[in-house]
Amino acid sequence: MAKTVLVTGGCGFIGANFVRLLLETRQDWQIVNLDKLTYAGNLLNLEDVSKNLTYRFVRGDICDQALLDDLFQEEQIDTVVHFAAESHVDRSITGPAEFIRTNITGTFTLLEAAKKSWLDNGLHSDQCRFLHVSTDEVYGSLGETGYFTEHTPYDPRSPYSASKASSDHLVRAYFHTYGLPILITNCSNNYGPYQFPEKLIPLMLNNGRQGKDLPVYGDGGNVRDWLYVQDHCEAIVRVVEQGRLGESYNIGGHNEKNNLQVVELLCDMLDEQLGLLPSGKERRSLITFVKDRLGHDRRYAIDAEKIDQELGWTPKYTFEQGMKKTVTWYLDNQAWMESVIDGSYQKYYAKMYGD
Ligand code: NAD
Ligand code: TYD
Repeated sequence: MAKTVLVTGGCGFIGANFVRLLLETRQDWQIVNLDKLTYAGNLLNLEDVSKNLTYRFVRGDICDQALLDDLFQEEQIDTVVHFAAESHVDRSITGPAEFIRTNITGTFTLLEAAKKSWLDNGLHSDQCRFLHVSTDEVYGSLGETGYFTEHTPYDPRSPYSASKASSDHLVRAYFHTYGLPILITNCSNNYGPYQFPEKLIPLMLNNGRQGKDLPVYGDGGNVRDWLYVQDHCEAIVRVVEQGRLGESYNIGGHNEKNNLQVVELLCDMLDEQLGLLPSGKERRSLITFVKDRLGHDRRYAIDAEKIDQELGWTPKYTFEQGMKKTVTWYLDNQAWMESVIDGSYQKYYAKMYGD
């Protein structure tokens, strides 16, 4: 069914991949991308599709109630896919305030706009969807065994995960209290094209390419369940179209790796594609164990049975396939990486917006 979808945070990593997927596979959907263009938002991520007639970019803040109210009315938004957030755990440790503002207040503001536009106008829940994109980090940290299910009690442990948990609760409250037609997805760690090089995989790729140190926190034994970003985006489309209202769906890759395994695989792939370092050494020699992250969660692992059973979604990419595509993308798009590292990606739009 044709939709008019408000994608928040569409210039970030997952949002940009999601907009691209919609443009390819849902050509009758109108897409409005609302993004504040923080350091993590990059217009270059969607530059080649920006002229598409079903796509419109709006620069703005999800905390701006008046802007949201106007946008819902003007565009007749019937679907929200809410990615916009501060997303990096390390930044949440050194500067949590922006996480509270965007992730909690911003989500609240967006819920209010949807409620006003849909419920106050008597729209039936069949016609509208509010999908909140969240993380498995809301469940806390696992020991050696066990998996997060949708029934695992929330136990967030970083300012980032606490802010996301808080927004999940608000979204659920709008379903129970007002009947807002919401859905929540809790996904594991993503990787793939357009990820900002503060996150593990693009950071290591960029350092490894340049022969710089590869800083692994603690003993490198922390485990994450890695998912290729396109698989995540396809799962979100599935939940928007077929998910049961008021439900949460866990999304994961059935792919647990510790950080050292991930970095070693990346080193080997780079050695294969670029040859050894000028010193004749393998890139694994660049691995440096550094001071651990404060409160570093030890293990995340998703039980993705519910979305498989109910909606027939499973990941298409193995870790090796996804990583090959990712390494190739970053090596083929070094200009993108350079512009992010030297900050010129922001100069690109600064002129347009008078920043
Ligand atoms: P990202 O940091 O790459 O992008 C976030 C985007 O949101 C940026 O474009 C930024 O400009 C925009 N934004 C930030 N504050 C805003 C505001 N106040 N108003 C409007 N736009 C704003 O993040 P990502 O990795 O693409 O993650 C997207 C969503 O998915 C987040 O909600 C995150 O919690 C969730 N998530 C991420 C992962 C992951 O591995 N990256 C895993 C599970 C869930
Ligand atoms: P990250 O990509 O920041 O995602 P998250 O913290 O949301 O899981 O980090 C993934 C894992 O990699 C996490 O256990 C922290 C670790 N890590 C390092 O060891 N070194 C680094 O430089 C970074 C950025 C992360």
